[in-house]
Amino acid sequence: MSIRDRRVQYETAGLERSELDTNPIAQWQRWYDQAAQAHVAEPNAMTLSTIGFDGGPDSRIVLVRGVDESGFAFYTNYDSAKSTQLVAHAQASAVFGWLDLHRQVRVRGTVAKLAERVSDEYFASRPRESQLGAWASPQSQPIAGRDELLTRLAEAEQRFSGRDVDRPPHWGGWVLTPHEIEFWQGRPSRLHDRFRYVLQPDASWFIERLAP
Ligand SMILES: Cc1cc2nc3c(=O)[nH]c(=O)nc-3n(C[C@H](O)[C@H](O)[C@H](O)COP(=O)(O)O)c2cc1C
Repeated sequence: MSIRDRRVQYETAGLERSELDTNPIAQWQRWYDQAAQAHVAEPNAMTLSTIGFDGGPDSRIVLVRGVDESGFAFYTNYDSAKSTQLVAHAQASAVFGWLDLHRQVRVRGTVAKLAERVSDEYFASRPRESQLGAWASPQSQPIAGRDELLTRLAEAEQRFSGRDVDRPPHWGGWVLTPHEIEFWQGRPSRLHDRFRYVLQPDASWFIERLAP
């Protein structure tokens, strides 16, 4: 089938204002649970967009490792392109695409580094190979070849031989704290349901339906 003619009919029950939780994090959690139950691949994956040093947007996928009232937590290299961009502009947007359920959630907000203790706890919970990989990879830097990574991995293995792997100082978490979250549910005839939550000065959320 040509890409031009590829179309999916979104036969879903839709999303009604009356069904929405007044709290968008609770609403997100409900949809996340349904995505996980439906075996959507990597339901905690979000495409994170930052503001590049040339002023343009820059996007990549990261995995969310915690969600609470403060927002969406993810972990990465603090020297990476995304982290240096976030230090310069503490704003980001993200999108979850749960395509099997014909759903999308968009998030806009501000970012902050997680407390060192929180990053330590999460790092300690990671598989040892991932911990060593965090030492081995100078994320976002040009490298000569794969051999360079393998050499650095061997160095990390030797350094931490017989003991726990420390969290590298250049590795840790960020939290994206939303001020806008939009829930999109595909419907027939491209008349999809969209609801946007906007954070108000009194910390309540204003909810409005948007045209698809
Ligand atoms: C499914 C998936 C999950 C990913 N999860 C993470 C993650 O949690 N943290 C991370 O730093 N990179 C993750 N990556 C890699 C990023 O997309 C990206 O390549 C890397 O972070 C470097 O991005 P940057 O150069 O813009 O900083 C993931 C990629 C994919 C495809």
